[in-house]
Amino acid sequence: MGEITEACRTFVVNDPNLTVYEVLRLLRILEGETTIGGITCKMTVSSVMAALGFLYYKGMLRVDRERLTVKLTSKVEWDVKSLVELEIRGAVYALSRAEALRDALKKRDMEIIYEFSQLPINYDSLMRKFAFMQSFQDVDGKEIIFVGDDDFLSVTCSLLGRPKRVVVVDLDERLLEGIRELSDKYGLEIETYKHNFIYPLPDELQGSFDTFCTDSPHCLGGILLFVSRGVSALKRGTETAGYFVFQTVNEPLLMTFETRQKLLKLITNEMNGVIYGMLPASIKYITPRNEDEKLMEVFLEATKRPSLEEYYRHVEETLKPSSKFIEFYPEFSMETSMITRVVFREPKPLIEGEYNKKAEEKYGPIYSWAIIEQHIAKEK
Ligand SMILES: C[S@@+](CC[C@H](N)C(=O)[O-])C[C@H]1O[C@@H](n2cnc3c(N)ncnc32)[C@H](O)[C@@H]1O
Repeated sequence: MGEITEACRTFVVNDPNLTVYEVLRLLRILEGETTIGGITCKMTVSSVMAALGFLYYKGMLRVDRERLTVKLTSKVEWDVKSLVELEIRGAVYALSRAEALRDALKKRDMEIIYEFSQLPINYDSLMRKFAFMQSFQDVDGKEIIFVGDDDFLSVTCSLLGRPKRVVVVDLDERLLEGIRELSDKYGLEIETYKHNFIYPLPDELQGSFDTFCTDSPHCLGGILLFVSRGVSALKRGTETAGYFVFQTVNEPLLMTFETRQKLLKLITNEMNGVIYGMLPASIKYITPRNEDEKLMEVFLEATKRPSLEEYYRHVEETLKPSSKFIEFYPEFSMETSMITRVVFREPKPLIEGEYNKKAEEKYGPIYSWAIIEQHIAKEK
């Protein structure tokens, strides 16, 4: 194990998460068939590529070009399996409305819109998020608002829980239409609103909910804006809860230590929230097929090189910040994110009016790809 880690370090010097533990996690994922983008361990794309190269040149990796997947050629001996994984597998098979859930997952499987920073979470993450909310009693009997919902978590909560009222607000009409269809088919009574969070929520949604839930773009401006809209929807003078997601790993442009510090301080000091529960490494995203195609292309092209050193050189040259999609940015970590629960009594949104130029100057753009594009432009 140490051997792969060391070999990768010769190629990627600065990745603090390139550890034996992370390489073990990667091998665990590679036991099953996965796309390269689907390898959601904490290491950066460059480190993952380095490890794949090592395994490939040792004859330990089977590559399926058609399916865009990779897999180990032989089984690894494990002493301990992930408890979380076992728990989730156990729960999912026992669900009473599993069929309806499958239907919901099929419906949400639509092409993502980069400009809206869409990136749905996978099935396990969806179940984990629902279970986390349910364990704090934030679903049953509650009025819940989803501030953006490309995950269709609103449908999962309505199918598996007993919420009093569910409202979804999003800019993407396709997604709202899909949620409405499922709602009609299964009698879920989910209300949908098409709205741009650049602007405050409509009056009738302000101050009316027990729980809000958001998975915003992964940057300071985006999180603060989406959380602010969620906070504005909460009831006053009673205990309410909000859920948001942020990355826990240093990402040079988006989530540095200081950014996380600022984010959490603003949520507690300015918005009057108390952090009341965190589930680390709990969210994994589904990489879009076109991104997996690009990653596979880079990998296959690199494996034409006669040696591992030349493979490394090729990957390094090719993996430049090159697309709008964040996971193709080589320093972006494929790490899972942390679900965070914040409790409020006197909620106060940080951003109350329109997210205008002034707000952007203070907190940055709301979309992470905009930050990366600015960075690329500056480097040119
Ligand atoms: C921001 S995406 C999730 C992103 C994911 N966590 C990531 O970092 O890529 C969540 C939802 O917000 C919606 N959304 C994005 N921008 C919006 C906006 N300005 N107003 C309303 N909804 C928006 C998207 O359509 C999507 O359904």
